[in-house]
Amino acid sequence: MHTQVGIVGAGPAGLLLSHLLHLEGISSVVLETRTREQIESTIRAGVLEQGTVDLLTEIGVGERMKREGFVHTGVELRFDGQGHRIDLSDLTGGKAITVYAQHEVIKDLVKARLETGGEILFGVSDVSLHGIDGDSPKIRFIQDGEQREIACDFVAGCDGSQSMCRSNIPEDKRSQYSRIYPFGWFGILVEAPPSSEELIYAHHERGFSLVSTRSADVQRLYFQCDPKDSVDNWSDDRIWAELHARLDTAEGSQLNEGRIFQKGIIGMRSFVFEPMQYGRLFLAGDAAHVVPPTGAKGLNLAVGDVVVLSRGIAGFYKSGSRDRLDAYSHIALKRVWRAEHFSWWMTSMLHRFPDQDAFQNRLQVSELNNVVNSRAAATMLAENYVGMPIG
Ligand code: PHB
Repeated sequence: MHTQVGIVGAGPAGLLLSHLLHLEGISSVVLETRTREQIESTIRAGVLEQGTVDLLTEIGVGERMKREGFVHTGVELRFDGQGHRIDLSDLTGGKAITVYAQHEVIKDLVKARLETGGEILFGVSDVSLHGIDGDSPKIRFIQDGEQREIACDFVAGCDGSQSMCRSNIPEDKRSQYSRIYPFGWFGILVEAPPSSEELIYAHHERGFSLVSTRSADVQRLYFQCDPKDSVDNWSDDRIWAELHARLDTAEGSQLNEGRIFQKGIIGMRSFVFEPMQYGRLFLAGDAAHVVPPTGAKGLNLAVGDVVVLSRGIAGFYKSGSRDRLDAYSHIALKRVWRAEHFSWWMTSMLHRFPDQDAFQNRLQVSELNNVVNSRAAATMLAENYVGMPIG
């Protein structure tokens, strides 16, 4: 088997890269260890930056997102029992975010790839890379019990936060930067209409919580918890009591309760792997960097990476020059580090740390007050939240 670009991983990065390359007339094969059903049902975050929305629309995969996604022109910061609206559109010259779940984006991308003759091999195993420092790398894997091999010009490692691909970069050629946060998020899906028209990021002495949405009858709610806690310790009654304690304001409660049909705990970390390339291997998305979910940047960073990467690969096939490809990591990392900082900053400002004392609590509230009262500070948040330009 031969293809121009072998792509490991059918997450947002791998699928979108495959489609962008297809639009440039470049062939690719996507390898995925999970099944199509698994990738299309894994619950992840759901905030798309303006640039992500524009890109998906431009390349013809934004139709359902336009119909079913929710455009939000503002976001609420809640602290000291009071809500404050950040007017994203006013502060960014008309930009907004769209709430549309990541697995819905995955479904749209898989459909678009399959309709345009794209090759996605689901359920493969034992994927390994060979010869990435030469001119003709190969990917070996097992499909239906048989050993197979793809020869390609380039390999894209889009295989997520536990990436196998990145371990192929020699240790003396790479650096890793990371931060593990001493808390996690307890996430639930609830059968009830949205409690709020916009997302609410709430600071509270008991810990952070977030009100998000999925549809006219499903809400997505989160609250900060011990990362080692178990969902079994949280009855529905206990969850609602905790959410009320953190979200009710002086005016009372606006929380719409309903049947909780999914519960899960996610860990929180920041991670960057540098450089994002070596020889003929290019990393994109979570394989190269992870952000805590507070800034809602994960999927959007993957999009930025593969836009830059697809331009570099297309430039190579058009001109024979590797110049743009060689600059990939350098260009992508600027946007990555901006999002890393923003996500860390939002996380630090809004969460309760285990050793936090009253002094630190006052500092957080003061910073939040500054963000909602200073147009300059609010603009900084809004610009980062709707997303920095790509490339
Ligand atoms: C979500 O809707 O899942 C969501 C929204 C905003 C975040 C993280 C997750 O910052």
